[in-house]
Amino acid sequence: MSTEQLDAIRSGYATTGAAMHLGAAVSGASTSPTAHPDVQVSLPLSVLNRHGLVAGATGTGKTKTLQLMAEQLSTAGVPVFLADMKGDLSGLGAPGAPSERTSQRAADVGQTWEAAGFPVEFFSLGGRGSGIPMRATITDFGPMLLSKVLGLNAIQTSSLGLVFHYADKRGLPLLDLKDLRAVVQHLTSDEGKADLKELGGLSSATAGVILRSLIAFSDQGADVFFGEPELDTADLLRTCEDGRGLISCLELPAVQDRPAMFSTFLMWLLADLFQDLPEVGDVDKPKLVFFFDEAHLLFDDASKEFVDQIEQTVRLIRSKGVGVFFVTQSPRDVPAGVLGQLGNRVQHALRAFTPEDEKALRATVKTFPKSEYDLGELLTSLGIGEAVVTVLSERGVPTPVAWTRMRAPQSLMAPMEEARMQEVIAASPLGPSTRRRWTGSPRTRSSPHASPVQARLPRAAPGRRHPRRIDLHHKAARSPSRSRRTPNPAVNGPGNVRTRACSSRSWRTR
Ligand SMILES: Nc1ncnc2c1ncn2[C@@H]1O[C@H](COP(=O)(O)OP(=O)(O)O)[C@@H](O)[C@H]1O
Ligand SMILES: [Mg+2]
Repeated sequence: MSTEQLDAIRSGYATTGAAMHLGAAVSGASTSPTAHPDVQVSLPLSVLNRHGLVAGATGTGKTKTLQLMAEQLSTAGVPVFLADMKGDLSGLGAPGAPSERTSQRAADVGQTWEAAGFPVEFFSLGGRGSGIPMRATITDFGPMLLSKVLGLNAIQTSSLGLVFHYADKRGLPLLDLKDLRAVVQHLTSDEGKADLKELGGLSSATAGVILRSLIAFSDQGADVFFGEPELDTADLLRTCEDGRGLISCLELPAVQDRPAMFSTFLMWLLADLFQDLPEVGDVDKPKLVFFFDEAHLLFDDASKEFVDQIEQTVRLIRSKGVGVFFVTQSPRDVPAGVLGQLGNRVQHALRAFTPEDEKALRATVKTFPKSEYDLGELLTSLGIGEAVVTVLSERGVPTPVAWTRMRAPQSLMAPMEEARMQEVIAASPLGPSTRRRWTGSPRTRSSPHASPVQARLPRAAPGRRHPRRIDLHHKAARSPSRSRRTPNPAVNGPGNVRTRACSSRSWRTR
């Protein structure tokens, strides 16, 4: 590589504001590469809300890149949320193990390496696996989002809106899927006939379709995700007393085979954040950065509605100061409408074993700005923990394409010990013993089988068939959930998001 090219990279990545250091530029033949610690490849914190993609074949260093980004964000006081699909990111909470390799890498890239653990909080989806259970109530989820997840058509969607409206009018709290099923079941029973008629616009046929899709959704394991206590998105925006941002790790290994569950969750979480956070426009550093490791799991078999929703949310959430990074094997795993919005790119090595690989490689090369590299050749010969990087500069223009050796994470590159993880969970201010907040109704469920909604509905007579009434007339649905939700105590209107201090024993306090 020419000196001019190195100079162009040096000046292209120079920043005046806060930035994270990804690594150092590399030059030479792929058989004898030289890293240049004096040519730093950095990512300005001010462009993180322009989102990003970390891609590459398995074992090339994507997750470690995510780890070192999360570490530097936390250090800069930026809270991080990450979906830890394989459980290999829990190590963020423990100091890394020094090694010859790590010292070598640090020296190569001009990094002062120091073992360090970071403030972490572990969450699980509805209590599956290790972590504080993350849940949402059906009411808060709302009919629109639920319809999208269920893949309902327009008529069914407006009908579901009427069901919510009915529950709202009757003061029936819809906490979990069972509650919602009970209401739909009631409306399709003989006892509910009058109510159904009164609602005008909900046919029993449509109600039947909704009921069946709710049952199928439960069968996919979605039940555990709905209910109380509900996650308060402000819990994800915490900084510690020492100023570091909290890293919220959603531990998903236990539900890896249930993509419908976490895609549902993601959709709600993004929508909820979007709703709760004030507009901030462009900021010096983001309010929160989201990382989705193994993001292909999100989009595999996703409905068009889901993809549209993600695309729209990713576009709009930018002005709320939230950055979203997708981490996946190939850029082709991410739908075009989402990919087009990802301004920052870290591309690890790709394989070119099969014709399909070749095609993916060519497609990836095409998405990069022009450069002196033979990217097809470079991308297939990158070392582990090396990447081809292009991000947005502080002025918002793409930086020169740079072959980069990445820094080494300072926290543990292996999963945290289970016992230690349990300690962190037990010490959490969100743990069951200290959980302060119950949205919706203040009572807990005494039995997992008895739904309070069921108890408050007239009993259906056993063994009678419901008469079917087909009515295609329907009204526009109103969503009662958003406007009537319990005010979020941590969000005090525009520009004023309060951050609660981390108070876990394991975190350093001033
Ligand atoms: N930046 C890095 N610093 C140090 N080691 C790394 C780095 N990137 C990758 N490695 C090594 O490569 C292995 C695989 O990296 P990983 O991030 O898990 O790959 P991927 O997520 O792409 O499958 C790690 O366990 C680690 O040993
Ligand atoms: Mg990985």
